[in-house]
Amino acid sequence: MQRLIIEGGKRLSGEIELQGCKNSALPIMAAALLCRGRCVLRHCPEITDIYSASRILNCLGAECSFSDGTAAADTAAADGTEIPDALMREMRSSIVFMGAILGRCGECRVSIPGGCELGARPIDMHLSALRRMGTIINEDGGSIYCRIPSGRARGARLTLPFPSVGATENIILCAVCAEGTTIINNAAREPEICDLCGFLRSCGAEISGDGCGRITVEGVPPEKLHGCTYTIMPDRIAGATYLCMVAAAGGEMILKNACTAEMEPFLSVLEQTGCSMCCTGETVYLRSGARLRAVQDRIRTMPHPGFPTDAQAVLMAALTTAEGTSVFEETIFDCRYRHTEALRKMGAEIDIVGRAAVVRGVGRLHGAEVSATDLRGGAAMVIAGLSAEGTTIITDISHIDRGYEKIEEAAARLGGRVRRE
Ligand code: UD1
Repeated sequence: MQRLIIEGGKRLSGEIELQGCKNSALPIMAAALLCRGRCVLRHCPEITDIYSASRILNCLGAECSFSDGTAAADTAAADGTEIPDALMREMRSSIVFMGAILGRCGECRVSIPGGCELGARPIDMHLSALRRMGTIINEDGGSIYCRIPSGRARGARLTLPFPSVGATENIILCAVCAEGTTIINNAAREPEICDLCGFLRSCGAEISGDGCGRITVEGVPPEKLHGCTYTIMPDRIAGATYLCMVAAAGGEMILKNACTAEMEPFLSVLEQTGCSMCCTGETVYLRSGARLRAVQDRIRTMPHPGFPTDAQAVLMAALTTAEGTSVFEETIFDCRYRHTEALRKMGAEIDIVGRAAVVRGVGRLHGAEVSATDLRGGAAMVIAGLSAEGTTIITDISHIDRGYEKIEEAAARLGGRVRRE
């Protein structure tokens, strides 16, 4: 079992080129199934979740390969309809393959990814929408069997009770080759949804309204879709993580290849900590103040363009040593404060009150041995370790590797002392 050893307390300075976005690359790999051809994905992050997605594609009959930040997937022969339980369990977002397989083959057999990482993650909205599109669904224990009797889904007018990212993706994937038009009201507006739609349009799909909360998908005949070459957008959450590293440890950095507009809901909060920031085109310059200030307003996680739930843990790690008290309110997931125990072990003062986390800034954190609880929680521990006095050892780092390309090398480019053993 590998672990990260961090010698903290050093000012950081350097430049990072942002990796491609996990949360758009995953649904885009699922979408490649609809193209029945060769898709080349540039700037595809080399992280374990992406390797899991490529194992799923291979198991369905596709051929995937990676070289130098580019993934190639040939899905011409990918007529498989079943994802084995073990592959479904490797990665929670495997559920997005459901809409893509259904859209391509008219049937699929998947299972609900188990475990409790962030709290309950039901898929009732996904299933209800697919049913409205003509799918018969049988659930048996954890296994889900979906079948469209005519072989091809039919368009539907849908209104989501909540702008769920995963449900929006599954509906889009099922609707692309459906008969007729699908309208998704209250659709998720996350930039990664727009990236998925951009990819599908490059393959011949007819989608409009993404990013505005009302998406229209005009179903096209399956043979109209073709492979393409597409560049995955930058990862706004990895960007937030590296900015928080420098904000917490003190110093300055240049973040290149950043999606500055999409990062705005995070950047506007980070700026309130007293960091000076400047965005020009695809670059963010950040210089931290002498000591961070607490954020005055409640930091409420919300669907985009609200403050992202994925950035909650990393910003919290930075605010543990800010001057004053910051309050987070997690509204998306009911179990997303598991990292706070590790932060407390490192000297942070955090109280959980219902959905809120009250963070009273302390002068300094100290190193400790901690265990990564989940992907972003683990990244928060790296941030805390870099700013802490002494040595921090992080175990269970497979969680971190799911979403960050060699986080220790990124930290080293900023001058951080992090090694993997
Ligand atoms: C969520 C985040 C996404 C983040 C990802 C990984 C939001 C809106 N979504 O996406 O930004 O990148 O986690 O951390 O911030 N829900 C249901 N029934 C459903 C589907 C969802 O009740 O069928 C509920 C969930 O329990 C949760 C909320 O809706 O409380 C958000 O779900 P959703 O956006 O679907 O989650 P993810 O797609 O995992």
